[in-house]
Amino acid sequence: MSDAYGDRGNKDVSIGNPKGMGSVMPKSTGKSFDAPGGPFLIGDSMTAGYGNGPDILHDCTISVEKGEIAVIVGPNGAGKSTGMKAVFGMLDMRKGHVRLDGEDITNLSPQDRVAKGMGFVPQTSNIFTSMTVEENLEMGAFIRRDDFRDTLAQVYDLFPILKDKRFQAAGELSGGQRQQVAVGRALMTQPKVLMLDEPTAGVSPIVMDELFDRIIEVARTGIPILMVEQNARQALEIADKGFVLVQGANAFTGTGKELLADPEVRKSFLGG
Ligand SMILES: Nc1ncnc2c1ncn2[C@@H]1O[C@H](COP(=O)(O)OP(=O)(O)OP(=O)(O)O)[C@@H](O)[C@H]1O
Ligand SMILES: [Mg+2]
Repeated sequence: MSDAYGDRGNKDVSIGNPKGMGSVMPKSTGKSFDAPGGPFLIGDSMTAGYGNGPDILHDCTISVEKGEIAVIVGPNGAGKSTGMKAVFGMLDMRKGHVRLDGEDITNLSPQDRVAKGMGFVPQTSNIFTSMTVEENLEMGAFIRRDDFRDTLAQVYDLFPILKDKRFQAAGELSGGQRQQVAVGRALMTQPKVLMLDEPTAGVSPIVMDELFDRIIEVARTGIPILMVEQNARQALEIADKGFVLVQGANAFTGTGKELLADPEVRKSFLGG
C-alpha cells in the first residue's frame, strides 16, 4: 500500500500555504513561544478533562510529521475526540504541551491556533446545514482578509460534486458529501496541518474509499493530516503513523504497517 502513495508529501503546494500563515492575521490572546525540534504538530504528554471533571486523557501523546498522515484509533470512549479537542485548544490542559512547527501553543485559543495554521474538522456539527455549500466554504475563510477565490476553486477541483451543488443547502447533501463540505471548509484557511475527527463516519465503504483518496490527495499537497478513524484497518493502511488509544492513554504506537502486523493490535482492535 505504501508504494501506491509513495510520493505523498510532494512539492505541489497549490492548496497548502507555502508561506505558512501568510494570508491569515494572527490575533494575540494567550502567549506562544519557541520550542524547536520534534514533530510538526504534537500534543505531548497531555492530561486533560472537561471542566472540573476527572482526567479523560492520561499522559497521552499524539503527533504528525510533515508530509505524513497520522491516524488515531481505539474503542468508543477511548478519548480520541478529547485528544483532538485538547490539541485544538478546546479544553484546559492539566499537564502537557501542544507544539506546532517549533512553537509552544499550549496557551493559545482555538481561534489563534487557526490563525497559526491549524485546520480542524470536528466529529459532529461540522457544517451549517441551512446554509448553502458555497456559504459554508466562505464561512471557512472567515479569518482571511485576502482574496480566497483561488482556494475556493481548488476546493471545488478536489471535490467536484461540491461545485455542482454549490447553491444547495448543505443539509440536503448525502453523508459523504457533507464530510467533503466539512473538509473543504477547513481547507479554506489554507491550513499548515489538518485535523479530522472521523471523516468517514456513517458513510458506505465505497464512499469511505473515495474520501480516503481525497484525504491522501490533500496530504500530497503537503498538508500533514492527523485523523481519528473508526475504520481502523483501512485507516492504518494509509497511515504513516498510528496511535492506538485506550482509556485516554497510548496503548500502541507505530507505523501503520507495524500496527497492522502486531498480533496484539490485530486481536484487540482489528478483529483478528
Ligand atoms: N463534553 C464532554 N463533557 C464531559 N465528558 C465528556 C465530554 N465529551 C466526552 N466526554 C467523556 O470523555 C470520554 C472520552 O470521550 P471521547 O468522545 O473523547 O471518546 P472517543 O474515543 O472520541 O469515542 P467515539 O469513538 O465514540 O467518538 C468519555 O468517557 C466521554 O463520556
Ligand atoms: Mg470521538
